[in-house]
Amino acid sequence: MHRKHSDEPKAPAVVPVTFLLQDPQSLTGGDAREIHLMAGKGQDLLDVAMENGINIEHACGGVCACSTCHVYINEGMKSLSEAQDDEMDRVEEAPALRRTSRLACQSVIQGAGPIVVEVPSWNRNAVKEKPH
Ligand code: FES
Repeated sequence: MHRKHSDEPKAPAVVPVTFLLQDPQSLTGGDAREIHLMAGKGQDLLDVAMENGINIEHACGGVCACSTCHVYINEGMKSLSEAQDDEMDRVEEAPALRRTSRLACQSVIQGAGPIVVEVPSWNRNAVKEKPH
């Protein structure tokens, strides 16, 4: 599913964000495991990734209805919006859960960073994997 991008003007890109890619080939088609970029406050991490050619799975289109955009926040959790209950419920469905797990589409940049986001190598759609 493709995500609709907002037409609203963007905040200046002043927040340093690093993406660490466990499987760069599948996410970008390249070999770079580390991508450094600048993002604006108010952007969520899924948008930041997609705008910079990092194709994180986002089966529900970024509306907190799957867990395919699961990432780890290795640094800078305090620079992101706090996780709400619905995000916590969703992220618990993701495989290889860590204390630093977040959904990229629900993690909005609010602070000055720096933010380090690790993108796991697996991509699977938890929507299809309801418990029996
Ligand atoms: S894209 Fe579905 S929860 Fe983030």
